[in-house]
Amino acid sequence: MTSLTELGAALRSADRAQVEAILAVATPQELEAIEAALAGSSGESQQQRAEEVLAAWHREALPYQLPPCTRCKSHERWRTKGPCKCKKPDRSWHVWALVAGRGTGKTLAGAHWALEQALAKPGLVGAVVAPTHNDLRRITVEGPSGLVSVLPPDLIVPTPAGRAWNEAASAVNLVNGSVIHTLSAEHPDRIRGENLAWAWLDEMAAWSRLDYAWEQLEFATRIGTPQTLITTTPRPLALLRELMADLGTAVTRASLTDNPHLSETTRARLLKRYAGTRVGRQELEGEVLDETEGALVTLSLIDAGRMAAPKRLDRIVVGVDPSGGRAEIGIVAVGRQDEDLWILEDASLRGSPSNWGAVVVDTLAKHKGDRIAAERNYGGDMVEHVLRTTPGGAHIAMSFPTATRGKLLRAEFLQGMYEQGRVHHVDVMPELEDQLTTYTGITNEASPDRLDALVWACHELMMGNRGPSREDMLTSPVSMTRAAPSRIT
Ligand SMILES: Nc1ncnc2c1ncn2[C@@H]1O[C@H](COP(=O)(O)OP(=O)(O)OP(=O)(O)O)[C@@H](O)[C@H]1O
Ligand SMILES: [Mg+2]
Repeated sequence: MTSLTELGAALRSADRAQVEAILAVATPQELEAIEAALAGSSGESQQQRAEEVLAAWHREALPYQLPPCTRCKSHERWRTKGPCKCKKPDRSWHVWALVAGRGTGKTLAGAHWALEQALAKPGLVGAVVAPTHNDLRRITVEGPSGLVSVLPPDLIVPTPAGRAWNEAASAVNLVNGSVIHTLSAEHPDRIRGENLAWAWLDEMAAWSRLDYAWEQLEFATRIGTPQTLITTTPRPLALLRELMADLGTAVTRASLTDNPHLSETTRARLLKRYAGTRVGRQELEGEVLDETEGALVTLSLIDAGRMAAPKRLDRIVVGVDPSGGRAEIGIVAVGRQDEDLWILEDASLRGSPSNWGAVVVDTLAKHKGDRIAAERNYGGDMVEHVLRTTPGGAHIAMSFPTATRGKLLRAEFLQGMYEQGRVHHVDVMPELEDQLTTYTGITNEASPDRLDALVWACHELMMGNRGPSREDMLTSPVSMTRAAPSRIT
């Protein structure tokens, strides 16, 4: 057989093809010998290698990306204090909440922390949890700042296809016997039964079934003195507030401008989009906003109804609120099945008429929609003209309701549907949800564009072209029989 030295060289050079070729021809006895040799002789060098990797991260990490020390509280005051220099950092926290703006390096920090946990002791089982399976693939596990990006190839056990992530088994296996499970928060039931020593929860505020998933994680994280890292851009969620206020939680905050490594283009794009807005305080600064009293709907109501859309929807409408001038154009796609509505996409944007016209037509095509419901602008047919002259727009079915004082009534009609649990967001749509949770409808408060677009689409779907009477709007949500949709887990 090939010598162990040769195998060792192949492992060190991370030449997977060669390692596989060697293992493919090895007899069972030889495999046993290899296993024994790897377990015995390389334990020390693995440990050394792990320490090198982590030391490199500690040199590169920004102060707020390092695990908190509750002795010096550097994680809270790192801007003035810099990283922790304690001889014996106190890491006795139960939860580390890295609640920060977009692009602050949350995912990279989480990936390194996860690696640190997996390398700390051989044979430990931990988990990374992302909002969806797609997020695991694109961001948390295989993304540019994800787990695989920080894992040195010589410390992992690759799959037969040479991948670091065994997607089918939802795991990344390390050569020291530690296992990192990769879980999607869409399926909290799969967390049940796990026995974890640590967990890293990425973008927890965007989890569609947050309370249930958190409950399952609390039961599952139970080996030794378990620790949990939450890396997230915040949203006004009761659970997040509760966790951040808990004495066992170490909280670290950071804003987009704190990360010097973020590309200038990304920084400029995000600042242009959000600066000076309420959403910006949340998305850029990482501020946990308060819920507005008397708002149309609460975030908990939205969260409770969140679920994926059924494969077939009866009708799909794109609602448009074409505010004049340089303001944002609200564009929201909504589908109906039986007596429930699914908010499919918020494609709102700022742009010239040809820009937004194209986005409306594209959004309708993307969702295979039936109709556009666009608010008629005061004193003219500009909106219809824009949509009809947009390529592909000439033959689309369109309605042009007129904004009147009935607008608030229509919004209230939608509020009734939310309260009955009949409105479902298929994803987190921060700006639309921000408008829904801050608009109170008090006199003279202009209703915001995304919300209006949503109202037009929902209204068209529930009322058709009838032009509802006051009775319709006030009574329909209650009188309609409700077919309870099954939750998609
Ligand atoms: N300590 C660091 N050293 C070098 N580059 C870093 C560091 N921290 C973050 N970066 C870079 O900053 C960018 C953003 O990092 P990352 O994706 O981890 O941020 P994020 O806060 O998770 O972003 P998002 O809000 O989009 O999820 C990446 O290009 C990453 O490589
Ligand atoms: Mg991230």
